[in-house]
Amino acid sequence: MLSSGSNSTSEGSSVMGFPDVIAAIAEDHRPSERAFFQRLRSLPASVASDPHMLGELYLIYQAAMHATRAAVYYLPHLDSPAMRKRKLQIFIDDDGLPGGDTHHYQLTRAFKNIGALCPIGDEDFGDADELVDHLDPATAKFVQLAKTLYARSLGPWCIVETMSDDWMRALADSLSVHFPSVPTEPYFADCFSQGVEERHAEEAIAVTQSVLERRPELLAQTIEDAKTMAAALDDVWVVMDQIVQATIAKHESALTR
Ligand SMILES: [Fe+2]
Repeated sequence: MLSSGSNSTSEGSSVMGFPDVIAAIAEDHRPSERAFFQRLRSLPASVASDPHMLGELYLIYQAAMHATRAAVYYLPHLDSPAMRKRKLQIFIDDDGLPGGDTHHYQLTRAFKNIGALCPIGDEDFGDADELVDHLDPATAKFVQLAKTLYARSLGPWCIVETMSDDWMRALADSLSVHFPSVPTEPYFADCFSQGVEERHAEEAIAVTQSVLERRPELLAQTIEDAKTMAAALDDVWVVMDQIVQATIAKHESALTR
């Protein structure tokens, strides 16, 4: 633990080394190396186009994304006018797209356009405590943790933004094997062409580092919360992999009947 006024943790992490710590956590939990993305990519076409599977994958992924997008509004330590301006730009990238569009709506359209039967409507993604009723335990845990931890420290925000470009590219790559139009969906195309997630990652870390320079006593909690969030996200990819495996089994048993 930190002693008051210190700028390094007992594990040797320092405020100056914070970006390296986040990079190391991201490397340990790199989403694109999770089994889900490879299994989705390798599916037979008949399984990949299963509207129920696509809908279930949509629900889990959108729920996790929704939880982080909603939680960003409660980030602590960023109340000065200059910090509010920087936060606002992040909000705008998610919820202030041209024509009243949002990242949420873009993602829904991307899945509907490949045939997903989405189990719940856009506006059913509300408070975490209600959303969890639609979710498996691991995704529910991620959703609840996002709500709690984003409001406690800036670490969860930093790690999620740092990893998001990797998982968005992995998801686009896996889906595009079966649905070649996926990379042109605005959810992916706008993000990749404008480097939105790389910018968010740099901004989150820069903002957090400036907070930590003033408040080094926050460093240990910030790092701990980043690790907790990254581990919870690992479990979301496991759930998505289980959905794919269950769909493979369902189609195989239908063939042998
Ligand atoms: Fe982002």
